[in-house]
Amino acid sequence: MDARTAGPGAGTRRAAALAAGLLCAAALALVALAPTPAGAQVEGAAVYDRWCAGCHGVDGDGQGPAAGRMLPRPRDFTVGLYQIRSTGTGELPTDEDILRVIDEGMPGTAMPGWSEVLTRAERNALVEYLKTFSRFFASSPEPEPLDFPRAPGSSEEKLVRGREVFELIECNRCHGPAGRGDGTSSPTLENDEGHPTVAADLTEGWMFNGGGTVEDIYRRLRTGLDGTPMPSFSDLVDAEVISSEDLWSLAHYVRSLSPGERPPVREVVTARFAEEGPVPTTPDDDAWDEVERYWVPMVGQILLPPRWFNPRVDGLWVQALHDGQELAVLVTWSDPSRSPDPAWDEWATKVMEVMDHPDAGSTAGAGPGDRLTVQFPATATEGMERPFFLQGDARRPAYLWTWRSWQAGPVEAEARGLGAEQPQPADGQDVTTAAVWEAGQWRVLFSRSLTTEGEDDPPFAVGTAIPMAFQAWDGDNGEQGAQGSVSTWYFLSLQQPTPMAAYVAPVVALALAFGLLLLMVRRAQRREEGAQAPASRV
Ligand code: HEC
Ligand code: HEC
Repeated sequence: MDARTAGPGAGTRRAAALAAGLLCAAALALVALAPTPAGAQVEGAAVYDRWCAGCHGVDGDGQGPAAGRMLPRPRDFTVGLYQIRSTGTGELPTDEDILRVIDEGMPGTAMPGWSEVLTRAERNALVEYLKTFSRFFASSPEPEPLDFPRAPGSSEEKLVRGREVFELIECNRCHGPAGRGDGTSSPTLENDEGHPTVAADLTEGWMFNGGGTVEDIYRRLRTGLDGTPMPSFSDLVDAEVISSEDLWSLAHYVRSLSPGERPPVREVVTARFAEEGPVPTTPDDDAWDEVERYWVPMVGQILLPPRWFNPRVDGLWVQALHDGQELAVLVTWSDPSRSPDPAWDEWATKVMEVMDHPDAGSTAGAGPGDRLTVQFPATATEGMERPFFLQGDARRPAYLWTWRSWQAGPVEAEARGLGAEQPQPADGQDVTTAAVWEAGQWRVLFSRSLTTEGEDDPPFAVGTAIPMAFQAWDGDNGEQGAQGSVSTWYFLSLQQPTPMAAYVAPVVALALAFGLLLLMVRRAQRREEGAQAPASRV
């Protein structure tokens, strides 16, 4: 085993890898494994046939047996077209460029990283072997990396200028006003193979295929991503439409749209006790700015047919608050369209045509809309026992909250298996939702009382860890039914209120305690009086 995996921090890395690895693992399972050759000499061909050919094809033409299920498709190495280069647009990559992609993979696509699977010697041998698939490498001079100065420092003015340049040279046309891939051209973007292509979400810099540092971004702007609609902007600098400083300011601005690094994956989502009063009732409430965000990575649903290898939603930000009475869970995620949106119909149709979907259940075009489901166990769990994370099973049902962009309700349901959900009756719906779509982002708020009168509503007890999982669908990406993205289980933990005594002098606390006692007595009396009246929520 690689010594690095055993170092400190390996735990968090493993947690993060767990979710992301799900997709890769299944993709790899599709790859037919050939036996390992014996002998000390590392043969690129043997390593390639074993690990790469299942996707990229034995002949390097991108036509491996698993290729039809992926979007983007595995690279066809015979044409010598590479996205991640330090060289000018249209040029071949250097050996270091190819090695980098092999080491780190291409986040957001099926291309895994290999630095922890293969030895350095094996990866070097692969670089040499990949180059043999295209005659261009033998017939062209050694590719020269473009020479850039080091990144200048950032400043408020540079970020403001960067934002101006973003609009001036129309990055927003594809990437949208806030960088979430919702530009006016987005529904029409195609790569060189004619396959629908998503403009990168610039608020998730850790997913950039060529790296997320300011230098990486600047280099991408100079080189472009060959084979995709993402152009090189070197010609604008050469023609003095913008200066190189402007391009650096732009790179700083793009960098500023994402967190400093890949957000850590934490198993426990804490619902803070809202000391300042009742929980917010809208996703826009400023109070949310003060509430901690938890990143929940999402992967395509590939455990049960019909599987889905082209998920749009790659992660959610989750925030939660409670006030002792009410629980509020706010879920925020990037989605370039407010489905259903006719502007994206053609896109969805193309996606479904391109995705080879032998599994029954797939349909031709857009799904009915966007959807988010939050799942909890329907019955109190013993110890760490949780239902199957895809909407439970016969023995351990799941309790679901579902928000749909195309209809108001019902929100609460019980499920005993994927797609086998039974909505609770209309008069038993205790969850409310409020949703906003703006600049390529959904913010959906779910609220429910900690305890309800519904028999099928599990209570949310303060101080316990409640298993919680998510599913998301983008209708305009053709997603519906089992074809969407899923998370693994997390725990929702409702924070205990800070004891009164910590704030107020003991005497005052004592008085308050008596006051509270009185209040409780009075409330109990009133309840008795009102016993005949119809039940109402407290
Ligand atoms: C599970 C499928 C899968 C496997 C296995 C796989 N790849 Fe890929 N690979 C892809 C996909 C998909 C892309 C295209 C991603 C894109 O276009 O954004 C890709 C792209 C690439 C690229 C192009 C980089 C660029 O700059 O354009 C290289 C190089 C590459 N893979 C090398 C390898 C090597 C070497 C192996 C074996 C060690 C391998 N891949 C195994 C799916 C796979
Ligand atoms: C014509 C549409 C289009 C325009 C204009 C455009 N982009 Fe892109 N951009 C894309 C697409 C599509 C991708 C994703 C390509 C892929 O990985 O398949 C992308 C990817 C990116 C990436 C991710 C790079 C990586 O390493 O994965 C960054 C950063 C980026 N664009 C920034 C910009 C900036 C800044 C501008 C303006 C100067 C810009 N783009 C203009 C379409 C566009």
